[in-house]
Amino acid sequence: MIRIDAVTKRYDDGTVAVDRLSLDIPDRAITVLVGPSGCGKTTTLRMINRMVEPTEGGIFLDGADIRRQPVDSLRRSMGYVIQNAGLFQHRTILDNIATVPRLLGWSKQRARGRAAELMERVGLDAALARRYPYQLSGGQQQRVGVARALAADPPVLLMDEPFSAVDPMVRKGLQDELLRIQAELGKTIVFVTHDIDEAVKLGTMVAVLREGGRLAQFAPPVELLSAPADAFVEDFLGADRGIRRLSFFPSAGLPLETAPLVPLDADAERLAAGADAPYLLVTDADGRPLGWAEPGRPLERDRLLDHGRPFRPGTDSLRSALDGAVLSPTGWAVAVDGEGRALGVVSQRVIGDAIRAAHGRAGADAGAVR
Ligand SMILES: Nc1ncnc2c1ncn2[C@@H]1O[C@H](COP(=O)(O)OP(=O)(O)OP(=O)(O)O)[C@@H](O)[C@H]1O
Ligand SMILES: [Mg+2]
Repeated sequence: MIRIDAVTKRYDDGTVAVDRLSLDIPDRAITVLVGPSGCGKTTTLRMINRMVEPTEGGIFLDGADIRRQPVDSLRRSMGYVIQNAGLFQHRTILDNIATVPRLLGWSKQRARGRAAELMERVGLDAALARRYPYQLSGGQQQRVGVARALAADPPVLLMDEPFSAVDPMVRKGLQDELLRIQAELGKTIVFVTHDIDEAVKLGTMVAVLREGGRLAQFAPPVELLSAPADAFVEDFLGADRGIRRLSFFPSAGLPLETAPLVPLDADAERLAAGADAPYLLVTDADGRPLGWAEPGRPLERDRLLDHGRPFRPGTDSLRSALDGAVLSPTGWAVAVDGEGRALGVVSQRVIGDAIRAAHGRAGADAGAVR
């Protein structure tokens, strides 16, 4: 664990960048520092690897004061990734990634072997190995930055707005990749961003900082969304807090109705069985949804209503289920399995009941923690 204990950083000109900050950063998880520009995020990150020294307070790595550790070995145990990747422009991609292993005295061959392995891990095509950074897109360069930071297999990764210079689609891909890498490698990651959505998506724990380097709240994302500590945090979280919070509740427990499911070639008897449902969900021969039909009428494929976007109960959240119901012209969401076959349907009202029950449980949990 990295313990930041009552740390203050006052720069020489008197600027207080960080003010009595205390944080316990858990091992093998992503902790996000988020807050407006100038609130001391970069300063905090750089104090962890001693690129900046605190004015007061201390930082402890597994209980040991980092000031007692040689700076070199401390930094080797912490990969560092910055915006725009900060690659060496005159070195190939492979040699950029191999930089730290080479510094550690690995042979060229072993370092390059490790670099090639990491390219694959961060989703870079091996064909890019011999290129130079300027020959890569921004998103590819960021991946190289992550691979380079992972090269010596440090237990800690410090990441300062690593994805903020790329477009939203590429950014989403990089975020997903980071979550996958984290799940595989179990690194302790401290991640700085000013984007609260990125913080909520990536963070196991999120520290919201305010101007003057003061901590506003330190909590798991679902708790931030449920119970912002004050008006600043609430404002920072922005609109749709309630809807966004639904991303943290599974849709797996929703009761699904199967009676309205009918195949396109259903016979009269089968159609009669679903006659009580307000709508029928018509499926193809493999059970995949085709669209909605009204009961009591012959099924005609080209007269079906769009079934909206289905959700997967095992993997998707209540937010996806609600979204499916809102997008569906019937107000019912369609649940599908991994192969896209219909499992059942669920109404907005039933989803609403599940949301209220989930809120009740979350409220009780939050109460128990305090
Ligand atoms: N070397 C320095 N000397 C004096 N003041 C500094 C120095 N570095 C940073 N600061 C000031 O400290 C405060 C915090 O800066 P820091 O870079 O940590 O903020 P940040 O949260 O990373 O901001 P951003 O989101 O813009 O990157 C700012 O007011 C900044 O101007
Ligand atoms: Mg910064």
